[in-house]
Amino acid sequence: MSLSSHDVFNAPDWWRQAVVYQIYPRSFADANGDGIGDLKGITSRVPYLKELGVDAVWLSPFYPSALADGGYDVDDYRDVDPKIGTLDDFDAMVAALHAAHIKVVVDIVPNHSSDLHEWFKAALAAGKGSAERERYIFRDGRGENGELPPSDLKSIFGGRAWERVTEPDGTPGQWYLHLFAKEQPDFNWDNPEVHADFLKTLRFWSDRGVDGFRVDVAHGLKKDLNPAFHAMVGFDDGVVDSDDGQHPLWDRDEVQDVYAEWRAVFNEYDPPRTAVAEAWVAPHRQARYSSPSGLGQTFNFDLLKAEFTATDFHDIIDRNLTATKALGGSTTWVFSNHDVVRHATRYGLPDGVAGAGAPGAASSTTGGNSGKQWLLDGGDPAEVDQAKGLRRARAATLFMLALPGSAYLYQGEELGLQEVSQIPDEDRQDPAFFRNRQIEIGRDGCRVPLPWTREGSSFGFGPGGAHLPQPAWFADYAVDTQTDDSASTLNLYRRALHLRNELETEESLEWTQVAPTVLAFVRPNGWSAVMNFGTEPVALPEGEVLLASGPLGDGELPGETTVWLR
Ligand code: NOJ
Ligand code: CA
Repeated sequence: MSLSSHDVFNAPDWWRQAVVYQIYPRSFADANGDGIGDLKGITSRVPYLKELGVDAVWLSPFYPSALADGGYDVDDYRDVDPKIGTLDDFDAMVAALHAAHIKVVVDIVPNHSSDLHEWFKAALAAGKGSAERERYIFRDGRGENGELPPSDLKSIFGGRAWERVTEPDGTPGQWYLHLFAKEQPDFNWDNPEVHADFLKTLRFWSDRGVDGFRVDVAHGLKKDLNPAFHAMVGFDDGVVDSDDGQHPLWDRDEVQDVYAEWRAVFNEYDPPRTAVAEAWVAPHRQARYSSPSGLGQTFNFDLLKAEFTATDFHDIIDRNLTATKALGGSTTWVFSNHDVVRHATRYGLPDGVAGAGAPGAASSTTGGNSGKQWLLDGGDPAEVDQAKGLRRARAATLFMLALPGSAYLYQGEELGLQEVSQIPDEDRQDPAFFRNRQIEIGRDGCRVPLPWTREGSSFGFGPGGAHLPQPAWFADYAVDTQTDDSASTLNLYRRALHLRNELETEESLEWTQVAPTVLAFVRPNGWSAVMNFGTEPVALPEGEVLLASGPLGDGELPGETTVWLR
């Protein structure tokens, strides 16, 4: 079969079935050797991305930031963090990616800025009752002297969601809301100025050639902070259980009005800019975010949270395809990102551990448990069955890559990388760890800089060190270690992505087998995927074998293996 690719790049609806590769810029590639990945590092790896065969990259935040939350605390939405580059470097990176026919999606963080944002500094300086404070959510405290927070609301990263400020005259003053770290004050989305400024930001990056946006905490912008609600809100970990659009904080119906405005801006461009919502909402509410009059696409975290069973996979896939079809959006699939334990490790956790493919394994915006609790409780990383984890991860990913809709991959999963579970406390960076010690181990374990080479400083991440410690076993996962091994995970991903491109077809499927341990479907052009969730081999169905996630037996599909056929 020839591997000449489909011209996805020039199609206006390129995003509908795109493979989008998430880059966590500070941990991808470091060009100048200061230990922090940078934009020039990304540009230098464009040939790698091309060879991998992705249609787009999504960059986690690269804006100026003091990194209180890995860059999700933005000081300036229309600039590049000097620690990782300049706007010129950004333009050069976009040009190189576009020349390689790779689209560029950037992260936009509208729920909160950082406390170093000009607007927040102005709000502090201007004092109570000022127009500057109206851009955020300031309230007087309770108690005789306002010494108690306005409500008992808790932050997703632990501790309370209110921080008291010192007024310009030096006295203790009002409190501001931060659903995440205290360095991340929430914007007031009832203020037209906030709306206007984000439209300006969307145009700023669109004008620079950005093709789409990933919208952080998309379900959180609109809030009802009526004091009567405060007393009622028991809010532990960001899990959104409310599903009627009336929750005081999450997934309120009127948040869609914001995205209708954004859509109008996206449609000013040719082709229209695209967007994908990060919205941890009830399954039946997801499609609201992916309607064509709104953002167009939303992450569907259902497979990420699913049990490793044929029944769960089948029900989730069916439900999502039906829901998105009804509104005309396209569905998405994802197993790993910068907030959750890498799926090669999740799938290898001892049976019964939350995160070992258990329901609710990763249900909040910080990734919920996903096995982290187990690690924190002293779970011995040696008990992770890495071989099983990788086998299952390869099977699940190959199955997912044959589904209609678009696939989101997280840097390093193409190497089959395992979570780094042992990071000394003093090296950790995640506020979820520091604000919530003993409860959350945090997300640093999936953010360790990538290994590119077996040898050399920081395994080829850059000419210097790495901002999070890389374990010795990274050598076995390095890109150069895997390149010449035809059975490596890297080569499986490369083959899968190029074949997928070649095989692209209409966004539908027909189930051909729905059995207790086996699932199979066929796409309109005869491309089929069969996955054996069990541990015993099953008969290999008829057809030309295109690719398999592991070695096939004679006429047999071994356990925890997926095959593509035609
Ligand atoms: C979701 C992001 O993925 C996560 O990394 C971040 O901490 C929160 N949103 C807050 O911005
Ligand atoms: Ca650097």
